[in-house]
Amino acid sequence: MIKIEKNVNLKLYNTFGIEAHARYFCKISAEEQLEELLSSEVYKNEHHLILGGGSNILFTKDVEGLIIKVDLTGIKKQQETDDTIDLYVKAGEGWHNLVLYCVQHNLGGIENLSLIPGTVGAAPIQNIGAYGVEIKEVIKKVEAIDLSTGARRSFTNAECMFGYRESIFKHDLKEKYFISSVTLTVTTKNHLLNTSYGAIHDTLKAMHVIEPSIKTISDAVIHIRKTKLPDPATVGNAGSFFKNPTITLSHYEYLKKTNPSIPGYPSVNQLVKVPAGWLIEQCGWKGKRMDNVGVHAQQALVLVNYGTGKGNEILQLAKNIISSVKEKFDITLTPEVNII
Ligand code: FAD
Ligand code: EPU
Repeated sequence: MIKIEKNVNLKLYNTFGIEAHARYFCKISAEEQLEELLSSEVYKNEHHLILGGGSNILFTKDVEGLIIKVDLTGIKKQQETDDTIDLYVKAGEGWHNLVLYCVQHNLGGIENLSLIPGTVGAAPIQNIGAYGVEIKEVIKKVEAIDLSTGARRSFTNAECMFGYRESIFKHDLKEKYFISSVTLTVTTKNHLLNTSYGAIHDTLKAMHVIEPSIKTISDAVIHIRKTKLPDPATVGNAGSFFKNPTITLSHYEYLKKTNPSIPGYPSVNQLVKVPAGWLIEQCGWKGKRMDNVGVHAQQALVLVNYGTGKGNEILQLAKNIISSVKEKFDITLTPEVNII
């Protein structure tokens, strides 16, 4: 039986720690509950929003509709080859729990994605990535339920149309499907360890690691993240607020004349990816605090709520940052966070 609650405070359900209320709220911990929900009057009459761990969402107002919180959990081993195994993981499983499971069982492929908050079901939506790895590299399929018909559909990796912080679920299929599970292929031996990211290399060296392993890479990533990123349990945030923008090579070279230290990395279609954190820092925002909200002192890409901040205060700060960066560099930043 599904329980639909009324007027629920979402403060504990989003990592920004923003106070907002949902008119209706329910948790889905079994797929049958979703079927039941889809035929309910509340579902038919109200706008809905699916919520995982709330670590990539900014509430700027109350939700005048229904929040569907994903609570399906479980990890199942499936098909095995000589050196890989498939893991079928339910959407509400914590992403970092899955990473720890893999580290514990010496399964390779997602150790660089250690300590990313949120759920497994949300991970393909923006193709989570960190320290040289994106989840698209290990995804075999994504299973989802059509929210208008209840029909089940399985998406292959290619059908997800993954890109940098992108997938089909953010575009053509936005809000159309409830992702119920993700199947990943991870390695059981002959692991392809990735230590290409400078910070991982340096941290492993400082840890005196000569031959990296899944466990030591995971430990290094956890260490790096703890030094740079605020823990949402202490200071509200949603990780990077903006995506790293890409600009043309000629624009980059033009900026380099007056800003010789501007970092840039080759991206697709001969574009150059510039770290948004650098641009924001150059505009003087790093560590700035405006009443209840601000820009993190160790990472200018992270906007923070010091406790009683409102979603609109964060949004206004984001808009001011976008204007400054546009004015100084003629680059338009786009939010990574889902603004509600
Ligand atoms: P939510 O915030 O709950 O939802 C995000 C979006 O997905 C919403 O539009 C929601 O409607 C939709 N959604 C969620 N679940 C489902 C589902 N089952 N079916 C359909 N739609 C769904 N991201 C990175 O990529 N790399 C990082 O290194 C990283 N670091 C972070 C560090 C911190 C401290 C924080 C707070 C966030 C970080 N993030 C990072 C962002 C965030 O953790 C990821 O985007 C994560 O995948 C969001 O998961 P979630 O369950 O919290 O999603
Ligand atoms: N930088 C600055 N000042 C800052 C922050 C960054 O100058 O305040 C510059 C530095 O040049 C630094 C470069 O930006 O070398 C890159 O910084 P960092 O390694 O911290 O990574 P990022 O580009 O800021 C991205 C992701 C993170 C991910 C890290 C590690 C995006 C939008 N963000 O951040 O993802 O964890 O790389 O791979 O791509 C997230 O998406 O929420 C997130 C945290």
